[in-house]
Amino acid sequence: MIEHVSPAERLRGTLHLPGDKSISHRYAMLAAIAEGATRIRNYPTGADCQSTLGAMRMLGVPVEQQEAEVLITGAGLDGLREPAGILDAGNSGSTIRMLSGILAAQPFTSRIAGDESLSQRPMERIMRPLEAMGASIQAREGRFPPLEIRGARLRPIDYTLPVASAQVKTCVLFAGLHAEGVTTVREPVRTRDHTEIALREFGAEVEVQNRAIAVHGRSRLRSLDLTVPGDLSTAAFFLAGALLIPDSHLTIQDVGLNPTRAALLDFLISMGADIRIPRLEQRTGELVGDIEIRSSSIRGGRIEKELSAALIDEIPVLAVLGAASQQGLEVRDAAELRVKESDRIATLAENLRRMGVAIEVFPDGFRVPGRQRLRAAGLDSFGDHRIAMAFGVAALAADGECIIDGAEAASVSFPDFFATLARIRA
Ligand code: S3P
Repeated sequence: MIEHVSPAERLRGTLHLPGDKSISHRYAMLAAIAEGATRIRNYPTGADCQSTLGAMRMLGVPVEQQEAEVLITGAGLDGLREPAGILDAGNSGSTIRMLSGILAAQPFTSRIAGDESLSQRPMERIMRPLEAMGASIQAREGRFPPLEIRGARLRPIDYTLPVASAQVKTCVLFAGLHAEGVTTVREPVRTRDHTEIALREFGAEVEVQNRAIAVHGRSRLRSLDLTVPGDLSTAAFFLAGALLIPDSHLTIQDVGLNPTRAALLDFLISMGADIRIPRLEQRTGELVGDIEIRSSSIRGGRIEKELSAALIDEIPVLAVLGAASQQGLEVRDAAELRVKESDRIATLAENLRRMGVAIEVFPDGFRVPGRQRLRAAGLDSFGDHRIAMAFGVAALAADGECIIDGAEAASVSFPDFFATLARIRA
């Protein structure tokens, strides 16, 4: 699908975004192995979270859905059924990596595959700990999907993550939930802690000390009534849009503001963004609030070390903002960008260059000088939702109409993205 996006004069309005993708996957998987029926409101209709529901159904879990409301009747820790076919994770790294932790503990063999992009993403990072716990896993070329997971009675493990990854942490904790004893995961840097929070809410025993997270296996999970907060990583596109386009003023309601995700707001504020949080509350262990933002002059900045992990999903749109900032943006220690839905360093550099923006690329990041004009261009999503949305926003600030090829990729996390952009520019 080709999207034509013309420059915007201003962005105005109030937005309510689809539920946080990270939280939603975790809620759906935990609900499936809990006891009783869990209701989840504001569950995303985007393809990734639907892939998780599809996999749960194939594992014999009753899932009813009416638009953004989902009812999942939990099968209990030992109640999943052997799937009749290959589980389809689609484009979703979270689905394949987190669900593998549960599949590894089943008394049957499962096969799980994904689309072309997912089929090129590394899986050794989950295979190693799951094999150490007793599962046996076959992968294409020893490390890519599809995976064939022969489940086993798992042993608990004390595992130090070689890469900062909340998906791998979650995979091991979900596996540990099925093992007899305590499983500990140690992180090199702190990553999003939605799993720790959700596990506790569902009734599991979890201890967190510094960067070590321990889960007690065989804890029975209870059912819950949940509402997923709006996705801050999706909000990032609109926040960047409001900062890029003069005379803008947006309010984004009910967004997840978990401190392990909200580094984005601190970073924007440190660069000069006019951001207010008029409402903040706690819901099911997660901070949720409203964000108000006005156009501001942005100084630019540097993202490195732990900050790179904390902002990993927002870097594509921050790169666009960096080009228009006063001093530009430098990103380092972010080689993980190369193994996301696309090689995001390469794909964002390609689109920026098409817009006439200078960018210097490094193996682990890039540097975009500031005060650059964004020229109208033919752009491509490269099949990556965050690249589609980042350049949907860039196009608003360009000097003429841009054409975005493969714009449908946005529907992986936000099917109404371009319609929403059109509404707030009206
Ligand atoms: C996610 C963790 C991050 C992030 C992804 C979602 C999660 O990936 O990029 O979009 O929900 O745990 P990694 O954990 O692989 O860094």
